[in-house]
Amino acid sequence: MRFLSVLAGFVGLASAMLKVKHRGLDQQSDPLNRRESAAYPANTIDMPIDHFPHNPRYAPHVTGTFKQRYFFDSSYYKPGGPVYLYISGETSGTNRFSNLQTGIIQILMEATNGLGVIIEDRYYGKSYPFANSTTDNLRYLTTEQTIADNAYFAQHATFPGVEGNLTAPGTPWILYGGSLAGGETAFSLKEYGDILFGGIASSAPVKTVLPYPEWYDPIQKYGPQDCISSVNAIVEKIDYLVDSHKEEAINELKAIFGLEKLKDIRDFAMTIAFPIGGPMNYPKDTWQELNWYPAYSAPDFFDFCSNVTNINAPASVTAFDNALAKYTHGKPWVNLGNYADFFKKAFLPLCPSGDYDSTSCFGTQNASFWADESNGPGRSYLYTSNNGVLGPSHAESTTPSLELQISEQPTNTAASISKLIDLPIDPWLGLCYHAPGTPVRESSDLNPEYLIAGAGHHWDSSGIKNIPAEPLFIQQAHLWEIKTVQKWLRTFKDWKPGHGK
Ligand SMILES: *[C@@H]1O[C@H](CO)[C@@H](O)[C@H](O)[C@H]1NC(C)=O
Ligand SMILES: *[C@@H]1O[C@H](CO)[C@@H](O)[C@H](O)[C@H]1NC(C)=O
Ligand SMILES: *[C@@H]1O[C@H](CO)[C@@H](O)[C@H](O)[C@H]1NC(C)=O
Ligand SMILES: *[C@@H]1O[C@H](CO)[C@@H](O)[C@H](O)[C@H]1NC(C)=O
Repeated sequence: MRFLSVLAGFVGLASAMLKVKHRGLDQQSDPLNRRESAAYPANTIDMPIDHFPHNPRYAPHVTGTFKQRYFFDSSYYKPGGPVYLYISGETSGTNRFSNLQTGIIQILMEATNGLGVIIEDRYYGKSYPFANSTTDNLRYLTTEQTIADNAYFAQHATFPGVEGNLTAPGTPWILYGGSLAGGETAFSLKEYGDILFGGIASSAPVKTVLPYPEWYDPIQKYGPQDCISSVNAIVEKIDYLVDSHKEEAINELKAIFGLEKLKDIRDFAMTIAFPIGGPMNYPKDTWQELNWYPAYSAPDFFDFCSNVTNINAPASVTAFDNALAKYTHGKPWVNLGNYADFFKKAFLPLCPSGDYDSTSCFGTQNASFWADESNGPGRSYLYTSNNGVLGPSHAESTTPSLELQISEQPTNTAASISKLIDLPIDPWLGLCYHAPGTPVRESSDLNPEYLIAGAGHHWDSSGIKNIPAEPLFIQQAHLWEIKTVQKWLRTFKDWKPGHGK
């Protein structure tokens, strides 16, 4: 198998709806879709719910299939060309159309007369095996089953209107995934290298950890430093108030942000961190949603920073810098007024009811909300990332989460299979192939790898249908990806896959 890893990252789950209480890797990651409407009809394949009828982990077994959606573009396809399989990850397949239209799949299809297809992950979009997501019904949501879908699909897919049999391994299938889907791409290639010819894993976490404070490291390092040091100093003071149980001071602090109704200190901490984001939950664009192409990017993070460090703020705002000095040995909270002023203008309006502690606003302590067993990406993602949060159940005790499964892999597994593309300003870099502290990586034709200078979460997946006009570092990454795939395809005739499953 041929495998290429690009580190551009995971983006968050969250849709703009606060109701979706988690934003993990990629749920809001396709900025193009905010501007383009869908152009591909949905096809479905009858996918076995349980690929492992003899594995006790999935008992009691079910024998049925579910309708799994896929979307394809054959406009560049010529007989003999490869199939590019875009792994949708933790979001609906319809959120990934830009990859076929202008992004990495379009780039590769055009360069090689390929056909591009998006597969929607099980338990996302409209590809749910069951009508609800009770923990029993979630037991088939594992990396093992998800990557088995990819292999089964490659062996059985049909493309209405396209002549010929394009199944794997007779046709070269090359996967692409960014973020969580990048991890799934890497594991698909490792497990099904006899069926799948190649893969590109971009910003692919290849190990998992909980918690993941390193998410903030690239922001600390590459964010505007006056902003970063102001926020750090404020956070240190908040920690001091919390550690020393200064309840009265904490209530004053909450009131400065307009959040006195928010009861739990953890919810308060999460909420005032919204302008920066975090590994799980935030409602608006921030660092992770930056993009190299201005029209796909969002300035929110930099607006936040320039507000925090505004040297022309009115006295009514800067007065708050001294409001809590009495609790911190007379030391002012530099730029607290600016921070709170920005927060109140940009985030309080997300809760028009003013009931900040409610689930529909910023409160996360409502057990009945989390117990809701309706199908939805938030619940699927949460199940995937942390089984324990959902409470005890049969399924949870027998089904390792994605994170557990990934962490079972030695951290350096990727080295033996393929390579990754990683992007150094990506908050998820710390879990990727090029994580700080890992050995110097060496690239080869079969197992290439690339740390794209200055880039963020799977930035190579975006394109503008004009490679010469791209910024140099992205342009060179795209040219390198094209060349790498072309080299792989030249070796296809000598590739000797097994017989598959
Ligand atoms: C969930 O779906 C199962 C079938 O998969 C059904 O037996 C059960 O009653 C449903 N539960 C709820 C709470 O709707
Ligand atoms: C495509 O080819 C494979 C392998 O030769 C075969 O198993 C499969 O039945 C074929 N599919 C169709 C639709 O002809
Ligand atoms: C503050 O942020 C807003 C956007 O929310 C932006 O329009 C404005 O220019 C920023 N102000 C400063 C001083 O940077
Ligand atoms: C708690 O969650 C339930 C279920 O989603 C919802 O109906 C209820 O309004 C929520 N309560 C609060 C205070 O947010």
